[in-house]
Amino acid sequence: MVKPSIRRLGRALLATGATAALAVGLLTATAATSQAATQGPCDIYAAGATPCVAAHSTTRALYGTYNGSLYQVKRASDGATRDIGLLSAGGYANAAAQDDFCAGTSCVITVIYDQSGKGNHLTQAPAGGAAGGPDNLANAFEAPVTVAGHKAYGVYVAPGTGYRNNNTNGIATGDQPEGMYAIFDGTHFNDGCCFDYGNAETNSLDTGNGHMEALYFGNNKAWGSGSGNGPWVMADLENGLFSGVNRGFNAGDPSVNSRFLTAMLKGGPNQWALRGGDTRSGGLSTFYNGVRPNATGYNPMHKEGAIILGIGGDNSKWAQGTFYEGVMTSGYPTDATENAVQANITAAGYNSGSTSTGTLTPGSRISLRATTAPCCTSHYLRHDDADTKVVISATNSSSSATDKADATWIVRAGLAHSSCVSFESANSPGQFLRHYNYQLYLNTDNGGGAFAQDATFCPTAGNSGTGTSFRSVNFPTKYLRHYNYTAYIASNGGSNSWDSTTSWAADTSWLVDQPWG
Ligand code: AHR
Repeated sequence: MVKPSIRRLGRALLATGATAALAVGLLTATAATSQAATQGPCDIYAAGATPCVAAHSTTRALYGTYNGSLYQVKRASDGATRDIGLLSAGGYANAAAQDDFCAGTSCVITVIYDQSGKGNHLTQAPAGGAAGGPDNLANAFEAPVTVAGHKAYGVYVAPGTGYRNNNTNGIATGDQPEGMYAIFDGTHFNDGCCFDYGNAETNSLDTGNGHMEALYFGNNKAWGSGSGNGPWVMADLENGLFSGVNRGFNAGDPSVNSRFLTAMLKGGPNQWALRGGDTRSGGLSTFYNGVRPNATGYNPMHKEGAIILGIGGDNSKWAQGTFYEGVMTSGYPTDATENAVQANITAAGYNSGSTSTGTLTPGSRISLRATTAPCCTSHYLRHDDADTKVVISATNSSSSATDKADATWIVRAGLAHSSCVSFESANSPGQFLRHYNYQLYLNTDNGGGAFAQDATFCPTAGNSGTGTSFRSVNFPTKYLRHYNYTAYIASNGGSNSWDSTTSWAADTSWLVDQPWG
């Protein structure tokens, strides 16, 4: 029996991660000129006398004439790296270069280049006061997107993933004014600390109130919250996520419900503002605009000028989210400048990487239907709300919204192998279908290599001649199977009861259907 509450898992972390290969590629990001034919966000900030001093994007150029590298990937097969650039100056990422370089293996993002010419590149975050390191690197295929119809990839931050630069150039320090914006996936978040982008400590330690000024996105309520159930854009000013003037509840900060989110933060002497909007349409709303918090340490501020992505100032790395682009400025941008930047962003044409359904394309929402007759042809693979098990159960148009969502999966590029797939729960973001002792569970991606293997399945022609079968990447004789209405990975004959040869071919063959939820 499936019960209506989802059991939540503890935060599991792996402190180990791949080491960034960072060398000559760092020098390849070139400075923009001011002669932009097509304006980028940083041309608009420059025109407003608040120039970008950091400009990060894996999807597009942020200056009209930028023609350098956007980011660097490293592939698992041989450890080689490749800089990913643009299709043309001022244009869009050359995602095909990544597809080509990473074909048949997996890739992580090792460097996110700074387009501003200041050299403020982001690389693998080191250990900090809250957690060890180095942090994990983002799987380069987990956040497919299109921008003006061009395929690109965002930075998919699973818990344990983090990027940082503790030795920057031109970023605001002390009480100096600055602005920043970031585009995030509004549907990818959690309540862990802290999915941030912005200004942080240069020693990766919590050095006290006011030593940070970074955008936060998620539904962490430890320090502050806004209206509704979240997620919210907040300001991480250190030892506090601020949804308004002081810690705690601030009604002016709305829950975010758009697929893509533009988040903006700016701060200067006894003044700061938090703004946001839908990346795809409309303008910005101001969630807070006023004086600094009254707690000790926030006025004046003690900004240190490091840059973080995906983590808190002290390397708290329990959060998740997806980043597409973001900048930091020198000087306090006017609302008019920020509004012009938002107009540029909405015109950029962000869209989901895959709008198709019923296919195994990363980003697709699907449901997986069992094919074994007569028992199970109206049964779908779903997670069980009463525990972390994965089962099959009858699902139809009359099923509850929860039951439908439990039977819906978002296809992701395989966590361990990009030519295979992983399945993220549609209603439990960050939790993936994985096997453990050969049984299937829904567990939180802890960013580790073992989890990635257990959560990766390679589609093959259906073993029964119908539909699709899913071979375990680390147990290649075993396939995703239902047995007594419970899901396993099973071989065709073997020591476990679920390896039974009876109905094995049908039990391991699935139809990739339109999503229920
Ligand atoms: O301010 C919230 C978090 O508190 C910071 O990101 C981190 O440095 C500290 O743990």
